[in-house]
Amino acid sequence: METTAGRWWAPGRVNLIGEHTDYNDGYVLPMALPLGVTCTAAAGPGGVVRLRSRQAPGDPVDTTTAALASGGWSEFPAWSRYPLGVIREFERRGHEVPGVHLDLDGTVPIGAGLSSSAALSCSVAVALRDLFAPAATDTELIDIARTAENVYAGVPTGTLDPSASLLCTAGHLLFLDTRTGATEQIPFDLDAFGLALLIIDTGTPHRLVDGEYAARRTECAAAAAQLGVPTLRDVPFAAEADHLPDPVLRRRARHVITENARVLRIAEQLRTGADPRLIAPLLTAGHASLRDDFEVSSPPLDTAVTAALSAGAHGARLTGAGFGGSILALVDHDRVVEVRTAVREAFSANGFNPPRDYTATPSAGARRLL
Ligand code: GLA
Repeated sequence: METTAGRWWAPGRVNLIGEHTDYNDGYVLPMALPLGVTCTAAAGPGGVVRLRSRQAPGDPVDTTTAALASGGWSEFPAWSRYPLGVIREFERRGHEVPGVHLDLDGTVPIGAGLSSSAALSCSVAVALRDLFAPAATDTELIDIARTAENVYAGVPTGTLDPSASLLCTAGHLLFLDTRTGATEQIPFDLDAFGLALLIIDTGTPHRLVDGEYAARRTECAAAAAQLGVPTLRDVPFAAEADHLPDPVLRRRARHVITENARVLRIAEQLRTGADPRLIAPLLTAGHASLRDDFEVSSPPLDTAVTAALSAGAHGARLTGAGFGGSILALVDHDRVVEVRTAVREAFSANGFNPPRDYTATPSAGARRLL
């Protein structure tokens, strides 16, 4: 018998700048999207866990909290490891889940670099907090969602995505120092400047489980160790990367060091109310760095960035982990149609499938709906 029921929501995100910095203790600047995951949840008895997803109608999960504690996760469908990981982590941290029924329904495109997985985990995390662990803090929920992804889904991601999903507020970018957890809400009113943020999903899904993401993480740790610092966050000047004998590690380190500097510059400019057009060259420089130094771009991502810039975007870059997924472009309101048309034409000329696009407004973070 169900005892308490309600509905919760957690958004996906787009990261304006600060890519592959979070697992280097660095800075990020995301905003929440109006796309997300709705979690309808009810407490149930006997440790019974019942999961349904509208996006995976053929893959329901019926299990128990005891079964989750005793391992044997290989039988669970990939999508379910995020919510199951969140349930298991609540229990492992002493927040008992007596039993729960979850119905999930999402609007974030999967594999588009817009954090569909964090939206899923965080929608479950806020539901479980309200039902079973009202004293759990946002910091703990961020750690639970990250652990669900790292340990149970097997992807060694950082705190960018769950932090954005839980902490973003409407009309703002979230400036986050991933080392200290310090945050600042930075107003981002593009309308007031006649601007739009165009997100173009190349339709080439990125798969973080393929190992390239983990490889970048290992390379960054190796670069930091060789430079004699705990993490690349501790290296303030890109010239210091020149001391690395290995050219690959040198490039990886240079990306992280220069990316952190770009986040700080952009945060500083936007904080003082500057016209966002001023930050656009830094966005494009961020793309070049991800393409040439971090080597996580792809022909569709580069094609989209080049076409957007040629059609008048002020700045453009891949967003998220790369290897596929989406780009963002900062565009004058009255040029949105030209830019999206130019990208479509470039995709067609290159034999790529038509991209999907959205204009994104900075939206609210996770919350209870009813
Ligand atoms: C993915 C990960 C994040 C972050 C980005 C790259 O979205 O989940 O933790 O590392 O890639 O910035």
